[in-house]
Amino acid sequence: MKILVTGGAGFIGSNFIHYWLGKHPDDNIINLDLLTYAGNLENLKEIEHLNNYEFVRGDICDRDLVNDLVKKVDLIVHFAAESHVDRSVFSPRKFVDTNIAGTHNLLEAARNTGGVRFHHISTDEVYGHLGPNDPPFNEKTPYAPRSPYSASKAASDMLVQVYFTTYKLPITISHCSNNYGRFQFPEKLIPLIITNLMLGKKIPLYGDGKQIRDWIHVDDHNRGVETIIEKGRIGDTYCLGGNNEVTNIDIARMILDIMGHDEDKIEHVADRPGHDVRYAIDFSKINKELNWEPKIDFQKGLREKIKWMIENEQWWRRIRSGEYQDYYKQQYG
Ligand code: NAD
Ligand code: TYD
Repeated sequence: MKILVTGGAGFIGSNFIHYWLGKHPDDNIINLDLLTYAGNLENLKEIEHLNNYEFVRGDICDRDLVNDLVKKVDLIVHFAAESHVDRSVFSPRKFVDTNIAGTHNLLEAARNTGGVRFHHISTDEVYGHLGPNDPPFNEKTPYAPRSPYSASKAASDMLVQVYFTTYKLPITISHCSNNYGRFQFPEKLIPLIITNLMLGKKIPLYGDGKQIRDWIHVDDHNRGVETIIEKGRIGDTYCLGGNNEVTNIDIARMILDIMGHDEDKIEHVADRPGHDVRYAIDFSKINKELNWEPKIDFQKGLREKIKWMIENEQWWRRIRSGEYQDYYKQQYG
C-alpha cells in the first residue's frame, strides 16, 4: 500500500510513521509536512534513510502539490493541523486556513483522483466539554466546540462527512482524547512539566488545576487508527480514549513524585479563556465492533515518557534553542 501521511513530522504523525513502518515494512509512505514550529524532522531520524519513505516539505493548502501527491497513493492519513488551543486563542487565522481549507484541499484531491481512501484524525474537543457527572462523549454526542482550535476541527470533520454523503468518498474519522508519548512538542502539558522541572523552573497550572483530561498513550491511539483503516466501516466515526481521567493537578503531582520534587514547584497562573472543564470518552463502539481497547498503563507510560525525556535531553533542548529547524536544510539541502 502507498500512503500519504500529512503532518508526519509532528507529534502523533511521526509516531504513526514509526508505528506503521514497524508493522507494515513493505508499505510506502510519503510524509507531507510544512514544518511549522510544530514539525520536527529529528523525530524521523531512525527511518529517514528507508527507500520506502519520502519526505515532502509543503503546505496541505497547495492545490497543485496535493493533487500530484494524492495521485500516487491508495490511502491518506490526515494528521496535519494547527493543534495547540492556547495558540488558537491568540491567532485563530492559521487554524482556519490549515485545519479547514487544508482539509478541504485534500478532500478535493482525493475526489478528483477517483476516491482515494481517506482517514481523518479529529479530536474529542469537537464535542465541547463535560460537567463532573455528565456521561462521556460518544460518536452520537452533538458537536459543541468551544475554542477556535476545536471549532476549526469540527468544521473540517463536517467537510469530511459531507464528502462521504455527497461524493461517496471512502472516509473514516477518529476522535481521540489527549495523547502523551515521545516527540510531543514541549508546549503541551506533560512535556512542559517535565522540561520545566529539568530546567529548575516552576510548573504553570491554569486556574485551580482541577480540569480533567482523558490521557491515552500515542501508540494506543495509532493502533486504533490502524484498526479503523483495516477494519472500520466506510463513512463511520470512531471515538478512541484511554479510560484514564486525571485532573491536571494530579498529573503534576504524579510527575513531581516520579522526578523527586516537592509540590512547591506548582504555580497557579491565570486561567485559559473558555477553559474546557472535563473531557472523557466512551470508546465502546470501536471496542465492540473492531475489538480495540487501550493497553498501555498510564503510570507505566508516564514513567517511560519521563525516562525518554531525560535520555533525549538534546531533542527538547534543540527545540528550545530553535536548532531543530536547521535539520531540514542539513538533510535536504
Ligand atoms: P502537532 O502540532 O504536533 O503536529 C502537526 C504537524 O502538522 C506538524 O508537523 C506541522 O508542521 C504540520 N502542519 C501544520 N500545518 C500544516 C500545513 N498547512 N501543511 C502541512 N503540514 C502542516 O500535532 P499533533 O499533536 O501531532 O496532532 C496531530 C493531529 O491529531 C491533529 O489533527 C490534532 O487535531 C489531532 N489530535 C491531537 C491530540 C493530541 O493530544 N495531541 C488529540 C486528539 C487529536
Ligand atoms: P494541553 O496539553 O494544551 O492540551 P488541551 O488543551 O488540548 O487539552 O493542556 C492540557 C490541560 O493542561 C488543559 O486543561 C490546559 C492545562 N494546562 C495548564 O494548566 N498549564 C499549561 O501550561 C498548559 C500548556 C496546559
